[in-house]
Amino acid sequence: MLVCPTKAEMRALVAGYRRGRRSLSLVPTMGYLHEGHLSLVRLAKQRADRVIVSVFVNPTQFGPNEDLDTYPRDPDRDLALLQAEGVDGVFMPTAAEMYGGMGNTHVEVPELSGILQGALRPGHFRGVATVVAKLLNLIQPDIAVFGEKDYQQLILIRQMVRDLDMPVDILGHPTVREADGVAMSSRNVRLSDEHRADAPVLNKALGAAEEAARDGPVVSDLLDLVRSTLATAESAKVESADIRDAATLAELDGRLERPAVVLLAVRFGAVLLIDQRVVGPVPDDPTGQK
Ligand code: PAF
Repeated sequence: MLVCPTKAEMRALVAGYRRGRRSLSLVPTMGYLHEGHLSLVRLAKQRADRVIVSVFVNPTQFGPNEDLDTYPRDPDRDLALLQAEGVDGVFMPTAAEMYGGMGNTHVEVPELSGILQGALRPGHFRGVATVVAKLLNLIQPDIAVFGEKDYQQLILIRQMVRDLDMPVDILGHPTVREADGVAMSSRNVRLSDEHRADAPVLNKALGAAEEAARDGPVVSDLLDLVRSTLATAESAKVESADIRDAATLAELDGRLERPAVVLLAVRFGAVLLIDQRVVGPVPDDPTGQK
């Protein structure tokens, strides 16, 4: 496994793969890797000859009052885990290497970056889109893999890739969960015992929504169910709970007639957890026998 701290080293590694006609997949991460990231790596390995993982805590996607300084980091452990997974290359730049000499060029997907999490975190998705565009341009993978947990991010990256004609397939990987249903996240380690005990409420609310959505309920009733389930955990402060069209993130009202995504952002003390699930009505039995 080759660790590349500079863009020049990364480019040289990728050029070698290209000369050998190897297909290439990329898994962009901010490090502090857990089983969720490793499952993205395993999918990436199945789909291409060579796998590169980027480990970079991207400062431009954190707001001034967000957790950039306290975001957990453990590069040595990350490298050991990636080595054990048989990753071929790791891009691990400093912020100066990544952004040094850069003007004010950025990538914005306006229709998607200002809604939902983007409305709560101004500038966040501009930072995400810009760094992902830079990684895709630098590494030029055939495939890039992202977790569905960051659902809005995934939809936004797909849109950016379509809009800018980037020659890469974006794959989503289902959310990986702890045994009690909490979505794996690098931020989970910062939860206090009390907050960690309440954290499964997100998965509980999503499960309740999934069940109720099968009958095609009114969207506002479904949202009430989600909110009342979240309210059962005393320490959970709901920052946002939304039900949107699963493909476009457009608003929905009336009866649920097509796949929707339930998007949650819930604060436990200083830690913001997000989670999501695609839900929808069960289609009528096509055989007409039920
Ligand atoms: O999902 C993440 O970890 C980050 O937003 C990403 C895609 C690596 C960009 O910094």
